Amino acid sequence: MEQAKKTVRKDDLLFCGAPHLFIAHEKSEGKWAEDAKVNCNIATAYFELLCNAHGLGTAIMSYPAEVLNELAPDARQMLGVPKNHYMGLIIGFGYPETTYARGVQKERGRKIHRYSSSI
Ligand SMILES: Cc1cc2nc3c(=O)[nH]c(=O)nc-3n(C[C@H](O)[C@H](O)[C@H](O)COP(=O)(O)O)c2cc1C
Repeated sequence: MEQAKKTVRKDDLLFCGAPHLFIAHEKSEGKWAEDAKVNCNIATAYFELLCNAHGLGTAIMSYPAEVLNELAPDARQMLGVPKNHYMGLIIGFGYPETTYARGVQKERGRKIHRYSSSI
């Protein structure tokens, strides 16, 4: 993390200089506590693909979530995440500065693909 601080992290060890953050969180207590974790993590994965499909760059980050959870509860509260909510992954997103291959590759003018089969 320290090695990359001056390059991709842009002096921002936690959030990698991302201009926007997406944080999925949900009440996580009692019988369905584990479901909340699954829901949040699925929502996070889908959000990354959604961003990529629209040409936005993303970085999934667990480290800053851990820092907010363990070391900076005030900052977590400031972000509006209630104490009884699960929050495990954060996505930094924005217009990418570099071109790179992502999970979703799309030609902007050809967003709909149709397949037909005679079977
Ligand atoms: C669950 C998960 C947690 C991650 N946490 C962090 C993190 O806290 N900080 C970070 O810089 N990258 C983190 N990464 C890695 C980045 O999201 C990204 O995948 C990695 O930088 C590789 O980038 P690339 O897909 O462009 O090769 C995490 C990845 C995953 C899947």
